[in-house]
Amino acid sequence: MRIDILTLFPTIAAIPLGESMIGKAQQRGLVTIQAHNLRDWARDKHRTTDDAPYGGSQGMVMKCEPIFEAVEELKRKASDQYSVISNESAQNPADHCPLNTDHSSQSRVIFLTPGGQCFDQKMATEYAQPGSHLILLCGHYEGIVQRVIDHLVDEEVSIGDYVLTNGALAAAVLTDAVVRLLPGVLGDENSAPDDSFASGLIEGPQYTRPVEFRGWRVPDILLSGNHAAIAAWRREQALARTRSVRPDLLGE
Ligand code: 6GU
Repeated sequence: MRIDILTLFPTIAAIPLGESMIGKAQQRGLVTIQAHNLRDWARDKHRTTDDAPYGGSQGMVMKCEPIFEAVEELKRKASDQYSVISNESAQNPADHCPLNTDHSSQSRVIFLTPGGQCFDQKMATEYAQPGSHLILLCGHYEGIVQRVIDHLVDEEVSIGDYVLTNGALAAAVLTDAVVRLLPGVLGDENSAPDDSFASGLIEGPQYTRPVEFRGWRVPDILLSGNHAAIAAWRREQALARTRSVRPDLLGE
């Protein structure tokens, strides 16, 4: 999988993704993540990426040209990478279809904006396809010009009902949620399906040693060795917690 993040603040997105499991996934070649500075595609000496809005209003909006050129270049690079891979893996040269050179449909352009559809675990699962390419376009200023949204962006995504100063943190959040679902990224292959939200429930409580800490004991059931009873208890706890904190997940 390949993820390109296009932002005015590439370090904000790149640093958290270089640590821990996602950092290791990159080192192991399970995913390629690159954060690019949109200014690298600006043409003037001041590297301008914004301009005043037509019709007059407060603030600035991001310009079309650098965004279109950046996204087109990133799509081209990803499709070249994929065609090299398919050339190498083709046993028979006839398997490689020379007419099928438009791989741009394999790239998904996601615009991160508080006005987008709210990101959730189901969307993370849908994006987490090993061979796919995501381009995460981060919003800034008052917004992105409408022509980018109409003719370049496939979908608009938000990470929640609050406003961040720019989309770079949101891109890191989305990337983390997607990459951890790729095969081999998590140490324990079984841990992702048990997550909060994957089952539609919030996870119940977990305990580790000591059996008593400051007078607070581990629930007896967890010490019982009765695995069926423990599983039933865990499900009950998850249901109770979900009902109390997120009744909307139960349709209540
Ligand atoms: Cl994607 N961007 C910004 N700027 N703020 C947000 C967001 C995105 N999602 C929630 N708040």
